[in-house]
Amino acid sequence: MKKIEAIIRPSKLKDVQRALKAAEIPCITVVPVKGTGLQKGYSERYRGTEQAMILKTRVMIICIVSNENKEKCIDVILENASDNRLGDGKIFVYDVEEAIRISSKVRGCKLPLIRTV
Ligand SMILES: Nc1ncnc2c1ncn2[C@@H]1O[C@H](COP(=O)(O)OP(=O)(O)OP(=O)(O)O)[C@@H](O)[C@H]1O
Ligand SMILES: [Mg+2]
Repeated sequence: MKKIEAIIRPSKLKDVQRALKAAEIPCITVVPVKGTGLQKGYSERYRGTEQAMILKTRVMIICIVSNENKEKCIDVILENASDNRLGDGKIFVYDVEEAIRISSKVRGCKLPLIRTV
């Protein structure tokens, strides 16, 4: 399993969520975050003026997916989270050791990600 963590513009959340669901990746966690990327706020204009060292409001989407769904998940986010400009966000990918569904106590690679009962 992989953990896909995408930090995106809040304005793109609905499109990304809809597209992930359509791609049969319905399980997501969304966290409001603030941060800066490489520009540290310098080259992105905020309310008409260049701001130094601002923390931009973003949302973090977390998807735990099977290894087979990794590229699909990344592609969906790339296609739906972009305004084709600086500050569009970043995607980080991690290995996941295990997932356990609390209601059924079932553990494993695939069961927690697909509803079978
Ligand atoms: N290396 C990083 N570590 C942690 N968070 C990061 C990192 N890079 C970006 N982020 C987070 O992602 C958000 C969006 O980053 P952003 O898209 O501006 O990245 P960038 O590296 O500046 O790329 P770009 O040149 O496209 O702007 C930031 O506000 C920050 O929350
Ligand atoms: Mg940036």
